[in-house]
Amino acid sequence: MSAAAPLAGVVIAVDGPAAAGKGTLARRLAAELGLPYLDTGLLYRATGRRVLEGGADPRDVLAAEAAARALTAADFTRPDLRGPEADMAASAVAAIPSVRAALLDWQRDFGRTHGAVLDGRDIGTVVFPEAPVKLFVTASAEQRAHRRWMELRARGVAADPDAVLSELRARDAQDSSRAVAPLKPAADALTLDTTALDAEAAFQAARALVAAKLGR
Ligand code: DC
Repeated sequence: MSAAAPLAGVVIAVDGPAAAGKGTLARRLAAELGLPYLDTGLLYRATGRRVLEGGADPRDVLAAEAAARALTAADFTRPDLRGPEADMAASAVAAIPSVRAALLDWQRDFGRTHGAVLDGRDIGTVVFPEAPVKLFVTASAEQRAHRRWMELRARGVAADPDAVLSELRARDAQDSSRAVAPLKPAADALTLDTTALDAEAAFQAARALVAAKLGR
């Protein structure tokens, strides 16, 4: 499909479990449609990092809320936002309602100004329930773990494949079972299973779903 003219003002929600390929896909959709892109996982990752740095437990409600409220642009470019420790800290702070509340307006302001593609867990259910396009991107746990393992390997990190799979399952369970804004598809989300798709095929499938919804 050829590049379209910018789709000003439209919000596209891309949700799904860890390592389903939603980041790559959302970033590309945004570029194709001329929309800003926000990886909302970074907000939780940066919050988790700040808590760890302060020597607190990421489940500590007051420490996590203070960290979320203190975030600045510099927190999003730190090099240590990926990896097992950052993954689990992000998932832990993300289960705290006051952390989610502290980050909500920021996400809404980002999307409301010019439209945007946002990826996360609760974009279609909580942050932008009125978004005209909601994709729920998923893949089997084994496939997602394999992709995460390849990613780590490409960065020179030797990881045990079984450990990667069990960390992913633990994070899915934590993200899906929390009381506030759990990971789940919005009732009107279009599900895209990328288990058997490479990044290019996943993008084309997503582009077709967006075109079917928006007529372009
Ligand atoms: O998308 P990610 O793997 O970078 O997200 C890291 C963690 O942040 C994830 O385990 C759950 C949490 N998260 C969330 O609760 N809500 C979002 N919108 C985005 C991420």
